Amino acid sequence: MRSEADGSMPHDPASLLGRLDTLARCTDGAGVLTRLYLTPAHEAAIRLARGWMQQAGLATRLDAAATLVGRLEGSDPDARTLLIGSHLDTVPDAGRYDGALGILAGLAALERLRDRDIRLPFAVELLAFGDEEGVRFARTLTGSRACAGTLDAALHLASHDAEGITLRDALSAFGCDPDRLGDAAYRPDRVIAYLEPHIEQGPVLEQAALPLGVVTAINAASRFIVTVCGEAGHAGTVPMDSRRDALATAAEMIVATRGAGLAWPGVTATVGQIRAWPGGVNVIAGEVEFSLDLRASTDALRDKACAALFHEWDAITAEHGVTHSIAPGFSASAAPCAEDWQARLERAAIACGLETKRLPSGAGHDAMAMAALCPIAMLFVRCRGGISHNPAESITGQDAELAVDVIVRLLEDLAAEGIR
Ligand code: GLV
Ligand code: MN
Ligand code: MN
Repeated sequence: MRSEADGSMPHDPASLLGRLDTLARCTDGAGVLTRLYLTPAHEAAIRLARGWMQQAGLATRLDAAATLVGRLEGSDPDARTLLIGSHLDTVPDAGRYDGALGILAGLAALERLRDRDIRLPFAVELLAFGDEEGVRFARTLTGSRACAGTLDAALHLASHDAEGITLRDALSAFGCDPDRLGDAAYRPDRVIAYLEPHIEQGPVLEQAALPLGVVTAINAASRFIVTVCGEAGHAGTVPMDSRRDALATAAEMIVATRGAGLAWPGVTATVGQIRAWPGGVNVIAGEVEFSLDLRASTDALRDKACAALFHEWDAITAEHGVTHSIAPGFSASAAPCAEDWQARLERAAIACGLETKRLPSGAGHDAMAMAALCPIAMLFVRCRGGISHNPAESITGQDAELAVDVIVRLLEDLAAEGIR
């Protein structure tokens, strides 16, 4: 259901939540927050974030995948770079914290250090990725995979949106050079780690009455586009027992999908998009396309659950005399967060007087892609009711500031540890 973006009390525009309110005005849809990769809203969000980064003294650039990068030099020119970031894109009718919080919390931490005249020995680069949600194109994590040096450029560039615009053309229209995606890659030996602050998007921290959590690992995920082919026909004349109804069959496949998620502990299985053709009220659907998003705590479990579900689908379509095909789209392996960085985040939190909880992430993050480049660390911020991918997404300014406190402390601890 469409709804107004969160209309809660306005925050001080200069505060972290105030900036997030301002950023939420960069939307492709009136009255809702929808900011897809390489759209005018994405461009507006980059302009805003770039301005804030520059005000904070960061040198900014846009890489070939439209990731906004803000760099703060360290005092040691030979030191490596610490990466902090998250994403600017959103799901349709989104909340305002998923993604944007991580970028602006990182920026707030760097501003705090500047206000206290603290110069770190190592450089910090803030990364504002543009394609974490994978809503516009069938491939996802384009920006973070480009930074990690693992992007299959040909595969990503050929993917297209619902209007048939390829990623290659969308990047060019955005002012990025699709043939230079390889230039976005960091050298692993020049990077210290990647830290992603993020809202939890689940209820665990709220239930534990804790503002912050330390992520242990990110679940594996795979997405598919499923096409079911039956036969279109007259809704009033074709007898019920001799139809090849693609939509009724897809409905059974979707119910089986939910069943698989319920039957396999640790697995989630979701159909979030569906289209039917020819789409007439009095026409039996001849063709249906729907999405599948299937996740699990390990790659092996995800693959086993997928295989079992696909087997069930074979039986369903055979029974109804229709055919189906399954096209793989995005896929990402489970990504463990580095043990030593989990401990560092916990120590930084303790130094700030905070207890934290370790927890896995069911949601996907740019950190999944960055894990191929360097150690990853994630700091979760409690969100109200565990609600996310929904305009009702909500966090408190106090919790957000505590996350900034912990990031500042972590940066100071890294310097004291002699990390270069
Ligand atoms: C992104 O938020 C995802 O987990 O799909
Ligand atoms: Mn996110
Ligand atoms: Mn999301």
